[in-house]
Amino acid sequence: MKVLVVGSGGREHALCWALRKSPKCDALYCAPGNAGIRDVAECVPISAEDTDALTAWAVANAIDLVVVGPEGPLVAGLVDKLEAAGIAAFGPNAAAARLEGSKGFMKDVLARHGIPTAWYGRFTDLATAKAFVRDKGGPIVVKTDGLAAGKGVILCQTVAEAEAALDVMMADKAFGDAGNEVVIEEFLHGEEASFFALVDGDTAVPLVAAQDHKAVGDGDTGPNTGGMGAYSPAPVVDDAMVARVMKDCILPTVHGMKADGTPYKGVLFCGLMISPDGVPKVLEYNVRFGDPECQVLMARLESDALELLDAAARGRLSGVELAWRDDTALVVVMAARGYPGAYMKGTEIRGLEAANAVDGVTVFHAGTKAEGDTVVATGGRVLGVTAIGATVSEAQARAYQAVDALDWPEGFCRRDIGWRAVAREKAGE
Ligand code: AMP
Ligand code: GLY
Repeated sequence: MKVLVVGSGGREHALCWALRKSPKCDALYCAPGNAGIRDVAECVPISAEDTDALTAWAVANAIDLVVVGPEGPLVAGLVDKLEAAGIAAFGPNAAAARLEGSKGFMKDVLARHGIPTAWYGRFTDLATAKAFVRDKGGPIVVKTDGLAAGKGVILCQTVAEAEAALDVMMADKAFGDAGNEVVIEEFLHGEEASFFALVDGDTAVPLVAAQDHKAVGDGDTGPNTGGMGAYSPAPVVDDAMVARVMKDCILPTVHGMKADGTPYKGVLFCGLMISPDGVPKVLEYNVRFGDPECQVLMARLESDALELLDAAARGRLSGVELAWRDDTALVVVMAARGYPGAYMKGTEIRGLEAANAVDGVTVFHAGTKAEGDTVVATGGRVLGVTAIGATVSEAQARAYQAVDALDWPEGFCRRDIGWRAVAREKAGE
């Protein structure tokens, strides 16, 4: 098969790395890719957002399967265009991608099909939104309806904070059109986990779960990021929890989307909040793999990734079984100093070979580009140093050994990725 992966992040590097291992993979391309991806796939210089050019290229090159990494092109209808051109694609069409593209749409789907989630209201009028906040009181959560690069969620402790957040979104338009509508919802407490299922329109198959670290600083302090690290398995998602989430959340969503006339296929990424007494609620759906969660999922996957993604794209998931390594996989994200604020670009990264040479380690590239023989940082999140180990502690130690083998003074990382799981392991749970 000839396969095209769309995207340029750590998630796409991990997907390419996993797809490349398939005996069925005859040719692998990635648009636009990055300096790490070029080691496993041929990079094609087309932007992930240029849906017309991607479709034309896939047709001209007789691609058998397109795997779409990021949400932007999914929401913009890349899969619709590919399928209209007769090309199989992994990922939802635009109508189903609204699960991530519009939080209001997602909340309505959950409500309509009785899926546990925070109570909510949808608003396009500032005064009505503020009245709702005053009525409900704090703490409360304010979200832009549309995509805002992971920044359109403001957790508010008080009514005053929520009113200020509404001003920023709806009056100042700090997130552009994404803030034309807002969702205001219940503040949920508990432990978060990232749950993934492959879906083919009818059938859903759970993948392993992961936990990520959103805050930029050690001890989960500082502003939120796209994710500074992740690990899998997630101890809070045991077999009983997988069964419960499938029954209460994933399957009603998949069946509901089909009944609504917007069948879902691709990977369904469910952000869960698990209450202290063990009740899972859906915080959000994403219509793609998490980044950096994908890196640890691919590190643990033993099954043929190409067979799986192709089966999801073609409605053939029924009966498919997955094999995983029992080991823990853990990824430490290296970001450019300043991230998630303004950060330096174009600095040189050395020591990648030494880092990759550490036992059990693969360094996935996120924001890098090749300049001759050197690799330079181009993004905020730049590398995902991923390690596999028999225990969480071992995976963590290997990942940090590889981090220390890198020579990139302009980069930084959190030093405590996996702390919850390490503490549980040490406590013998
Ligand atoms: P989202 O982009 O919707 O995933 O939100 C980003 C982060 O905000 C989540 O990972 C949670 O940590 C937090 N969050 C979102 N919604 C809620 C909620 N209703 N209650 C508590 N925390 C939330
Ligand atoms: N790591 C969370 C996300 O990809 O949205």
